[in-house]
Amino acid sequence: QEVHAAELERTFIAVKPDGVQRGLISEIISRFERKGYKLVGIKVVVPSKEFAGKHYHALKEKPFFNGLSEFLSSGPVVAMVWEGEGVITYGRKLIGATDPQKSEPGTIRGDLAVVVGRNIIHGSDGPETAKDEINLWFKPEELVSFTSNAEKWIY
Ligand code: PPS
Repeated sequence: QEVHAAELERTFIAVKPDGVQRGLISEIISRFERKGYKLVGIKVVVPSKEFAGKHYHALKEKPFFNGLSEFLSSGPVVAMVWEGEGVITYGRKLIGATDPQKSEPGTIRGDLAVVVGRNIIHGSDGPETAKDEINLWFKPEELVSFTSNAEKWIY
């Protein structure tokens, strides 16, 4: 049975400035891609501190809010939208626990990061956040909708 791509779940994933500068963009994309998720939007941006503050607005009261917003705006970020069944929850699983000291080996943070303030990647934590974050970072025309031609193109 065919499922139209537009009906599929989407999440917002960002490679943060530390991940970009450490050369981990392709490693991160590869993990989502090999799992079977579909990349439907991607761009490299240096967000302003104000924009970063909007992205992290739910954390306004946290002691690390200012530092975290400053860090996100400190350099290029790879902003992405990934699509597929269960991608919000499973994307968080691929990413691993917030604190890299607690994330399991095999996860992105478990394998590639050491401290919580420099944990290389962000992923939306639920359906509402995913919607809000996708809308904040992307215009609708920057996202594509497509069905796979894999069966036709593998001989
Ligand atoms: S919390 O405290 O429950 O809201 O934490 P969590 O939802 O796991 O994380 C929200 C984002 O805050 C970042 N974070 C921190 N940054 C710096 N220092 C400390 N101590 C810290 N604790 C949490 C965490 O990485 C999340 O950011 P993203 O970009 O989503 O990973």
